Amino acid sequence: MSQDHIGVFDSGIGGLTVVQALYDKDPNLSVRYFADTKFFPYGDRTQSEIIARVIKSAQVMVKSGCKLLIIACNTACSAALEHLREYINVPIVGVEPPLKPAAQNTISKRIVILATEGTVSGDRLAKLKADYGNNVVVDSIPMPGLADMIESGDIDSEELISKLKIALRKPINRGADAIALGCTHYGFLGGALDQILPNTVLIFDPADAVARRTLDLIKENQLLQLSKHEADIQYQVSGSHRLFNIAMDKIRASGGKIPPMTRGNFIDFHGEIVD
Ligand code: DGL
Repeated sequence: MSQDHIGVFDSGIGGLTVVQALYDKDPNLSVRYFADTKFFPYGDRTQSEIIARVIKSAQVMVKSGCKLLIIACNTACSAALEHLREYINVPIVGVEPPLKPAAQNTISKRIVILATEGTVSGDRLAKLKADYGNNVVVDSIPMPGLADMIESGDIDSEELISKLKIALRKPINRGADAIALGCTHYGFLGGALDQILPNTVLIFDPADAVARRTLDLIKENQLLQLSKHEADIQYQVSGSHRLFNIAMDKIRASGGKIPPMTRGNFIDFHGEIVD
């Protein structure tokens, strides 16, 4: 019988920033990470493609013992979260660009949202802006190709730094002092952003808030069995296991934090797990 666990889903490696935040709070949580790398990047896909993939993946995850599901992908949440709630009967935690804390903490009243094209053009960000962005100028900057670079393990190359510099030059020159990371992959860019931004600019990463919300839901839903007496983190990918491992190693070598995995599995398109 499969063991109860928290399922964490992303199109690729970015959701591991959320797994790290969970691990920092409770290293004994039982976590199964599923990256739908075969369909990466979600940022370039249509809403209906994303909805179909997210529902299919979530159903497989719940069938295998997931008692609480984290959709650690802004693009997937923007396109599919509301639909998913109709299909899945375990508690779901989503992620969204941290526009609210950025808007609350900016002094210059100018903030930047960095995200995929799908998230920047989605209704969810429009709603966040309407709800929390009225008193600030919000520069939403789509970053095509950036998640792809991170997915291959690049979090600090010259090319990546120059891409960030080009995107951020104007808003920073105009006085933006808060940057909201609207893609979980960008959670690995702390070092790169520190290199190019004045230290007066605040960076908001939603991973910690997602981890806090998850721990609250564990208590509320009496899912304390999800915390074991030792670390138990496993991962599965729908694409190449080898490439995923290489990217994790590269990110770790560049100083990115990824929690240790207890073992790796490969999950195919239909959800059958093959070691
Ligand atoms: N990690 C995903 C997100 O938070 C994006 C990567 C992709 O385009 O698939 O939006």
